[in-house]
Amino acid sequence: MEKQSKVSIIGAGNVGATIGYSLAMHGTCHDLILVDREEDRAKGKALDMSQAAAAARSHTTVKSAQSYKDIENSEVVVITAGSPRLPGMTRDDLLMTNAKITKEVILKVREYAPDAIVIMVSNPLDTMTYVALKVGNYPKNQVIGMAGILDSARMAHFIYEKLGFGSGQIRATTMGGHGDYMVPLQRYSTVAGIPLTDLLKTEDIDEIVERTKRGGAEIVGYLKTGSAYYAPAKATALMIKAILTDSKQIYPCAVYLDGEYGYHDIVNGVPTTLGKNGAENVIEISLNHCEREQFRKSINSVQMLIDVLNKKNFFEI
Ligand code: NAI
Ligand code: 2OP
Repeated sequence: MEKQSKVSIIGAGNVGATIGYSLAMHGTCHDLILVDREEDRAKGKALDMSQAAAAARSHTTVKSAQSYKDIENSEVVVITAGSPRLPGMTRDDLLMTNAKITKEVILKVREYAPDAIVIMVSNPLDTMTYVALKVGNYPKNQVIGMAGILDSARMAHFIYEKLGFGSGQIRATTMGGHGDYMVPLQRYSTVAGIPLTDLLKTEDIDEIVERTKRGGAEIVGYLKTGSAYYAPAKATALMIKAILTDSKQIYPCAVYLDGEYGYHDIVNGVPTTLGKNGAENVIEISLNHCEREQFRKSINSVQMLIDVLNKKNFFEI
């Protein structure tokens, strides 16, 4: 009998539910499980999504979990459980809040779906990916953070807005962390194969780069009560598809660096091939002095958050 592909999503909030909806509408997997600490939220969304799948004549079945046991045999588990930044919260407060949630969730995931490839979405993304890897004691290929596809898509959109043409033909590339020290790579960005630098003035490219770095904050500014979810969900769904179909697509992903680009024991965004074994191969592209320097700052910014966790003995279980 053909193997039934199963995906579980922990956190059925804005991003988690939109990922689920995308998977169900495209029939990306056979079984989809939603888990949330607000059980009725997961139940209501699973029911609604199942009915949408019936309308779309999709074969995906969507269920909410009665307990973590229901995630058994998942090939992919996505973690979007986390708190957004609330009024009065410092960055460190958010770090500790989401690190504790990630720890609690990942121990359950490790127990009930030990072989699943884990995609982390919760912020601060690079550090939460590191937390999941360390707390779950995973091999480095098994935990992957989603951010680079999203950041690259944002950059592609801003290139389109600046140019006014080329929609659908833009290939933007970013690497580095998902934060202020993201590294948008103009030298690796093209429109129908034409280098960006042949199409736009330096000032315009600089504006695109800055807007890309602030892409998440721009949307929070409009939504006011939450952050983006359509593009984050689509980006995550692409990663899930690449893993389930073993397609070996190259995507920018937050992965554990073990000597790549000269860094060890840290997570950051780099071009990665995705397949059934998760993050299968990191591609080391050539960086000029300025890009290397930006990447170094990005690494340092993640290391600072990990240092905060270490000072609080967070990794001592
Ligand atoms: P949300 O608040 O809509 O959803 C979060 C869900 O997690 C809620 O339903 C909540 O009940 C659930 N949850 C919290 N603790 C839990 C636990 N211990 N176990 C199970 N469920 C739990 O938030 P949203 O907009 O879906 O964002 C989720 C996370 O993803 C946030 O940390 C956000 O910053 C991050 N994010 C990351 C992006 C990226 O590019 N990596 C892009 C967009 C959001
Ligand atoms: C975003 O970039 C908040 O990380 C989230 O939209």
